[in-house]
Amino acid sequence: MEMQVKQLSHALGVELSGIDIAGEVNEVEVAAIRAAWNEHHVIVFRDVDLTPDRHIAFSRRFGALDDHASTPHDRLADYPQLLEITNIPKNGLPSQTRNTGRNWHSDYSYTNRPAAASMLYCTEKPPVGGDTMFCNMARAYDDLSDKMKGIVADLQSVYDFNLVSGVGKRDPQKIAELLKLNPPIAHPCVRIHPDSGAKAIYVSERASHFDGMTIAESAPLINFLCAHATLPENVYRHQWRVGDLVCWDNRTVMHMALGDFDQTQPRHMLRTTLQGEKSGYVVEPGEK
Ligand code: SIN
Repeated sequence: MEMQVKQLSHALGVELSGIDIAGEVNEVEVAAIRAAWNEHHVIVFRDVDLTPDRHIAFSRRFGALDDHASTPHDRLADYPQLLEITNIPKNGLPSQTRNTGRNWHSDYSYTNRPAAASMLYCTEKPPVGGDTMFCNMARAYDDLSDKMKGIVADLQSVYDFNLVSGVGKRDPQKIAELLKLNPPIAHPCVRIHPDSGAKAIYVSERASHFDGMTIAESAPLINFLCAHATLPENVYRHQWRVGDLVCWDNRTVMHMALGDFDQTQPRHMLRTTLQGEKSGYVVEPGEK
């Protein structure tokens, strides 16, 4: 059966069907999925029955997987290639990932290997809410004036782990380890997609400032770029179903996990992360 493509919103996101991604996927199918992914930035597969091994095997067809050494506490036991994002308590303690992803970001921007892509699988969800929003950073770049394109071309965004949402609600000792593992790092403010050549804004709510500028000087531009990129017409909001695998391209997409649900209801997700190219240089924290 041929792959079917159903558009999910105007700006980005398609649902793909007709390929059994829990089974053997051939090269032609991989190429078709990759082409749709490059064009639409977010791809959604519904009703998929994935084991951890199958999730990893499918993800590997699209590139090398990160072992999540930058956030080692959040790995699924025995599966370093899978991050466990859940509000289900662990050993009687609140889950450290219960607030993961609550501000607009691109995965692993605070590392020297920002993620190329992520593949998130839903195994449990609350009856209402727990949605994830995605915005198209390539479209946001294209919509900038030529003058602004020139300005951002010269900037390096500094990513600071302290700006990961929910940091203050996590175990302080673990956070100290994570801050040591992930010092502030600067990346080009415009990211170029290696396959499509598309240029995308690479700024998020986890960027503290632009290298060489103060936090106060940088804030208006960071705020403008984030507000511009997350305008409703540039966003797709995914309402999860158990068995959804949602894959996004971190080079052209920001996302945010919403806390729009009853936290007593379980939400459980597993994520593989495709490694991007090495990038960035470590910098001092920003000056106010
Ligand atoms: C993430 O930021 O990778 C998590 C997204 C989600 O849980 O919806």
